[in-house]
Amino acid sequence: MDRAEDVRKIRRDHATPVCPIDRGEDGTWRIRGYEAARAVLRSTETVQAGLGIETVEKLPARIRRPVLYRDGPQHREHRRQTARYFTPRRVDEHYRGLADRVARRHLDTLRSEGEAWLEDLTFGVSIDVACEVIGLTHSRPGIQRRLERFFPEKFGRPGLTSWHGIYWLLRQNSQWLRIYLADVRPAVRAHREQPADNLISHLIAEGCSRAEILGECLTYAAAGMVTTREFISVAAWHLFTDEALRERYLAGSESERLAVVHELLRLEPAVARLKRRTTGAVEIPGADGPVTVPGDALVEIFVDEANTDPDAMGDDPTTACPGRSATTGRYAAALSFGDGPHRCPGGDIALMETNVFLGHLFALDGIRMLTPPRVTFQDEIGGYVLRGLRVAVDRR
Ligand code: HEM
Repeated sequence: MDRAEDVRKIRRDHATPVCPIDRGEDGTWRIRGYEAARAVLRSTETVQAGLGIETVEKLPARIRRPVLYRDGPQHREHRRQTARYFTPRRVDEHYRGLADRVARRHLDTLRSEGEAWLEDLTFGVSIDVACEVIGLTHSRPGIQRRLERFFPEKFGRPGLTSWHGIYWLLRQNSQWLRIYLADVRPAVRAHREQPADNLISHLIAEGCSRAEILGECLTYAAAGMVTTREFISVAAWHLFTDEALRERYLAGSESERLAVVHELLRLEPAVARLKRRTTGAVEIPGADGPVTVPGDALVEIFVDEANTDPDAMGDDPTTACPGRSATTGRYAAALSFGDGPHRCPGGDIALMETNVFLGHLFALDGIRMLTPPRVTFQDEIGGYVLRGLRVAVDRR
C-alpha cells in the first residue's frame, strides 16, 4: 500500500524505528506515544524539568520562580488566579479587536513597501498581542529589536571559561537590563499608579519584586511571543505552498479556518520537546499494558511524534486533514500546547491571532512568497526558527 505523503515542513532527524516508550543510554525515559505522553503530562507525580530550568534553579531561593518553573499548590493557585486573562470570552472581547488592528497595521507596512520579511510581521503581531496580556504597555520605542536580541536565532552558552562564554554572559546580562529599563520598569511604575486588569498589575498586587516581575514577563515573552511568531510563519509557509489547503482555508468559515490552523499546529509543534521529572512512580499506558516509570526519573516527551501517533490520530497522521477524527477530543492540535497543569494558558489567544493574521495576509492582492525560509532548531525545546521567508504584494 502507498504511504501517504508526509507534508510537514519541519524535518527532525529521528533514529528509526522508534518505540512509543523507551530509555536512552543516559537513563532518560523517552515517550513518543500520544496516550503515554498525555499521561505523563497530566500526572501529579511529575514536575517541570525542561525549558531552561537549570538557569532558573541558579536563582537565589528568595526569588519566586516564573509560572513555567513552579509546581504543586502554588503553581495551581497562580494559574487559577490568572485564568481570567485567557478565557475564550476575554479573547473575544479584549484581544480579537486588538489582533485585528495590529495585523492590519503590520500588513499596511507590507502594502506600502511592496515586500517584507514574514518573520518581522509575525513577530510584530505576536509581541503586540502578548504585551497587552502581560501589561507591557508603556515601553520605549524599539521593543521588537530588544526582544530580537534577547531571543537570537542561535544561542551561545554563557560561562566564564572561554571568550565565547564571557561574550554570551555579558550579552545576556545586558539584554536583561535593556528590557528591564525600557519595558518592564515603565510598565511597573505606570501600573503601581493606576492598576489595570493585566498580569503585571496582578503580580504587583501579589507583592512580587521587580526582579520577579521581570522574570515572569520574559517567561511570557518566550512562551507567548516566540512560539506564536514561529507558528504563524510555518502556517503561512504551508498555505503558500499547498494550493488546495489555501483554497480550503480562504473559502472556509471561521471554525473551518480554525480547524486548518489546529491541524497545522498538530503537524508543526513550535515546542516539540517537553521534560518532566517524576516525584513518585507513574503508570503510563504502553503497547502491551501499563508501564511504570519509577520516581526521580527524567522523562522526555517527543511532541512531534506523539502528535503523529496513528493510534490517536487515525490514518495518514502526517498529512494535513483539518477536522480529522482523532481521539484527542477537543484538543485538535494534540499536545502542541502541552497538557496537564502546565498546559498553555494562551492557546486560544495564539489560535485566534494566527487566524486573524493569516486571514488578512492571504486576502491581500497579489500576495506571494518570493523566497522560502531557512530552518534552524532550538535544541532545548525542539523548537524551529524560520528566517528569510520574503513576501510580496501588489503595491497600493
Ligand atoms: C502557537 C503558540 C503557542 C504555543 C505552541 C505554545 C506552547 C506552549 C506549551 C507546549 C506550553 C507547556 C510547556 C510545558 O508543559 O512544559 C506552554 C506554556 C505556557 N504558555 Fe504557551 N504557547 C503558545 C502561545 C502562548 C501565548 C500567546 C501565551 C500568552 C500570551 C502563552 C503563555 C504560556 C505560559 C504563561 C505558559 C506556562 C504555563 C505553566 O507553566 O503553567 N503561550 N505553551
